[in-house]
Amino acid sequence: MAGAPWLVREERAAEEHPDQALDELKIAKGWTVADIGAGVGYMSWRMAERVGPTGKVYANDIQPQMLELLKKNMLERHISNVIPVLGEPDDPKLPEGQIDLVLLVDVYHEFSQPQKMLRHIRAALKPDGRLVLLEYRAEDPKVPILPLHKMTVDQVKSEIEPEGFRLDKVLETLPRQHIIIFRRKPA
Ligand SMILES: C[S@@+](CC[C@H](N)C(=O)[O-])C[C@H]1O[C@@H](n2cnc3c(N)ncnc32)[C@H](O)[C@@H]1O
Repeated sequence: MAGAPWLVREERAAEEHPDQALDELKIAKGWTVADIGAGVGYMSWRMAERVGPTGKVYANDIQPQMLELLKKNMLERHISNVIPVLGEPDDPKLPEGQIDLVLLVDVYHEFSQPQKMLRHIRAALKPDGRLVLLEYRAEDPKVPILPLHKMTVDQVKSEIEPEGFRLDKVLETLPRQHIIIFRRKPA
């Protein structure tokens, strides 16, 4: 299946600092979080440790084969607070109003129906919930990723804010990716 080995390549941690990315988000014990476009679970198993046994991680993807690999990865790590969810290209199939934080790592630019996805994500978040995107910096030609898979902050902001979010913070502490944090706007 396309992409699965690349998501767990040996050098990824050194290139992307995934644990540092999650440190920045200050995820607390007991939270309910969602990893949308979770792939094989590279970020999900890290989030599972952070929310602990009283919290849970909805790990969503539209590729059933990715979710099969994700389940295997969780079993191998004895992780039981990750709930795999098979989504549709326009609907992540998450429960409404329960999520503290939705994470999209290198996923938003792949959405075929971003507006519909954003509407569902907004509905899934708690009123004070956050939506966080990691995207490769398109502003930086030295980031060695195809332009198709990179985004600028301006692009992300102009697409997401009209769907009921407001840009809260942009963190530029990672080697290759923006961390872009949105808050849900009240209805
Ligand atoms: C580049 S991978 C990133 C995987 C994971 N976030 C990570 O960092 O390891 C992108 C993933 O997004 C998924 N995807 C694309 N469109 C999606 C959608 N509408 N809903 C859920 N997942 C989607 C793909 O199937 C793929 O697994």
